[in-house]
Amino acid sequence: MNLKINAYLEELKSFNDSNAQKIEELRIKFLSKKGLIAALFEEFKAMPSQEKREVGRSLNDLKKFASTKIEELKSTNPVEEDAGEKIDSTRPANNYFLGSRHPVNLVKNEIIGIFEKIGFNVSEGPEVEDDWHNFTALNFPEEHPARDMQDTFFVAKDPDWALRTHTSSVQVRVMENDKPPIRTISPGRVFRNEAISARSHCIFHQIEGLYVDKNVSFADLKQTLLYFAQEFFGKETKIRLRPSYFPFTEPSAEVDVYWGLENEVDYKMTKGTGWLEVMGCGMVDPNVLKNCGIDPEVYSGFAFGMGVERIAMQRYQISDIRLLFENDMRFLEQFQSEL
Ligand code: DAH
Repeated sequence: MNLKINAYLEELKSFNDSNAQKIEELRIKFLSKKGLIAALFEEFKAMPSQEKREVGRSLNDLKKFASTKIEELKSTNPVEEDAGEKIDSTRPANNYFLGSRHPVNLVKNEIIGIFEKIGFNVSEGPEVEDDWHNFTALNFPEEHPARDMQDTFFVAKDPDWALRTHTSSVQVRVMENDKPPIRTISPGRVFRNEAISARSHCIFHQIEGLYVDKNVSFADLKQTLLYFAQEFFGKETKIRLRPSYFPFTEPSAEVDVYWGLENEVDYKMTKGTGWLEVMGCGMVDPNVLKNCGIDPEVYSGFAFGMGVERIAMQRYQISDIRLLFENDMRFLEQFQSEL
């Protein structure tokens, strides 16, 4: 027994490995339930009592020595963490994708902001509209060919209900419900039964403008549109008005913004003229005021209507209107904004 105790002591004393796994192996070899020291204690139990006294102390010393040595080894050589499991709290957090505004909304919000600055409020109307608000009140006589200017989607073959073909219908609703002075813009979706191509779509957005008060003149209309064009397109922007026809305005005009004619894109966008058509406008026809319960002898007004997609396409140089409706993330992600 003594021989074994001495041999084990020697082995323990000479152990000087710092590898945590080797230290653990040493502990198992000597101190576990089935280890060498436990085996010595088993032998010890079976010994005659005289011998026990002699061996007992050495055996206890051996056990104590083994425990202290292994404790020491363990505390000076801690188990190394697996590198893969380490958490580095200084690493940046995951990127969350925040999304972006749709270019049509960016342009719409900017235009609303420009008109809000000069006292226009925002009004809205329904997308499914009746004949009165979309056509009749706006001075489109029944059977009049002007209705053909706007290819209409009728609802369930009912000629009295349709998807609105323009936001001018909101003008009628506002004039029916409010008293002048009225200064309002009406953004919204409109629908036309048209073939879809790179330049036109059957769904698009318009922003309608309406100003009704005493003594509103064509000069007020021109000045308001010049203000808008210079806010939106730049301080040096020039506009021109060309005579046109709409049933609900008299006189009527198309508004062009000078775009420039320097490169191929300018030629394409302006059909070689340098001028870009951005909206229709005019003085509200007295019949329309009358239809909406406003006395045309007392009040006058101007109105205008513009297509949001066209303006967004110009602003962002988008060559195909269909891109605005496909919701392809690769396209939409390019429009980051604070607005
Ligand atoms: N509603 C017309 C369209 O969709 C645009 C328009 C023209 C609106 C002249 C107006 C206006 O308010 O005065 O083509």
